Amino acid sequence: MKILVVNGPNLNMLGVREKSIYGNTNYKDLVKYIEDAASELSVEIEVLQSNIEGEIVTIIQNAYGVFDGIIINPAAYTHYSIAILDALKSVRIPTIEVHISNIHAREDFRKKSVTAEACIGQICGLGIHGYVLALQALINIKNNFA
Ligand code: DQA
Repeated sequence: MKILVVNGPNLNMLGVREKSIYGNTNYKDLVKYIEDAASELSVEIEVLQSNIEGEIVTIIQNAYGVFDGIIINPAAYTHYSIAILDALKSVRIPTIEVHISNIHAREDFRKKSVTAEACIGQICGLGIHGYVLALQALINIKNNFA
């Protein structure tokens, strides 16, 4: 099983940006945390990050026929990127949306996810552990619905 993790804008600033919301772990350690979990679960993983909407669209398009699942944290694009929504709908790869913070307990503009519509489900508010939960969920879903 091959899983792609896509992280959107400013997530490369983890460990620096708004630590009370996003925690102390920096981006490099987040990637290692996900990679270690994937290796324990015997899943192949690629973790990518981009600050550019069009790049994220291309990353999702390129996943077609290559990856069995996507874990995406579109970051701010969550709230308004129809292009990322359309890319996810185009490839129809089982996708889970992850947010480190609880977007439903923050500003009103964060409560709406336009991308969640193309996802199996959404995990939010559980910190970086959400990525590992998403990984487990994708494996579980593949085994139960295959
Ligand atoms: C985020 C929540 C978004 O609202 C925000 O723009 C981010 C990170 C999260 O992981 O909690 O950049 O996706």
